[in-house]
Amino acid sequence: MILITGATGYIGRHLVARLVAQGERPRCLVRDVQRAANILPVDNVDLVQGDTTQAETLPSAVQGVDTIVHAAFVTADRKQRPGSNYEETNVHGTRKLVDAAQAAGVKRMIEISGLGTRPDKPGSYMQGRYLAEQAVIESGLDWTIIRPSVLFGKGAPFIRGLVDLIHSAPLVPLIGGGKVMFQPIYVEDVVSIIVQVLREPDRTANKIYTIGGPNYYSFTQVIDALLEATHTRRPKVYAPIPLVGVGAAAMEAVLPRPPLTRAAMTLFSFDNTTDIDSVERDFGFRPYSFRAFLQGQGV
Ligand SMILES: NC(=O)c1ccc[n+]([C@@H]2O[C@H](COP(=O)([O-])OP(=O)(O)OC[C@H]3O[C@@H](n4cnc5c(N)ncnc54)[C@H](OP(=O)(O)O)[C@@H]3O)[C@@H](O)[C@H]2O)c1
Repeated sequence: MILITGATGYIGRHLVARLVAQGERPRCLVRDVQRAANILPVDNVDLVQGDTTQAETLPSAVQGVDTIVHAAFVTADRKQRPGSNYEETNVHGTRKLVDAAQAAGVKRMIEISGLGTRPDKPGSYMQGRYLAEQAVIESGLDWTIIRPSVLFGKGAPFIRGLVDLIHSAPLVPLIGGGKVMFQPIYVEDVVSIIVQVLREPDRTANKIYTIGGPNYYSFTQVIDALLEATHTRRPKVYAPIPLVGVGAAAMEAVLPRPPLTRAAMTLFSFDNTTDIDSVERDFGFRPYSFRAFLQGQGV
């Protein structure tokens, strides 16, 4: 039995669709069953209502489960609000899930983390992501951590945020000069990797996999590709990170879904890349190219 947390999320819903297509019937932990019923193939999954920040909801969700795929996080592209707090969900929620998994005799946990996760300032977004990984590593369960670069695919949050920014701003800010590097990876390729990890518990036990697509792009190149794909012309301007941080704070204050958040600015503090052959080397296939996707399917 597989339990997927974050099943209604971007990666979660693609993973559920793949597992169902393969004839499996995963259990999905969801906060709002009615909402989930509009997103997930309800006839082919078991929905269980729960919230990782509410420990009392977890024992029934993990009962009889062998493996948890943990993708329930408040990601950096979301602003914090009541019920969606980075520390409460990412750190404390993961610890509560680990506690419940240990108590129920769950064997393994696969955590969907992100590239660049490392110790950082106490209370920061990145420190929370680091502590969430540590909770799983120190759980005593078999664990695997998957750290993707930014994702692309229909409706991908990072790309959608940039497209919103392109459409809403008269100038496109080249954050930090546009030099930070990204290695966008296709959501279906991430799902294929999770499925391989599920199928190969021995080979993948107690490992961290950093994964990215087949090409590196500077932020400027990502923006250029999106301008081209959306047939949009916009002047680009150099935008120092502190200034964009102020803009992100202002957008967070007034918009329910701001195109940029202060936490997302963390992504601009390091190159969001790993080895160019990471997927081919560890999982034996060549991932899809971001440019080919945009040319074939648009944003
Ligand atoms: N998307 C990317 O570009 C990308 C890139 C690299 C790494 N990742 C990582 O992959 C993981 C999944 O990302 P994603 O893009 O799929 O995120 P997402 O679309 O924002 O989905 C987050 C999921 O977590 C659920 N959730 C949030 N708080 C919860 C709680 N307290 N209890 C139970 N469920 C809760 C949400 O449920 P509701 O539907 O109820 O809100 C939703 O299903 C994250 O760790 C993220 O950092 C994503």
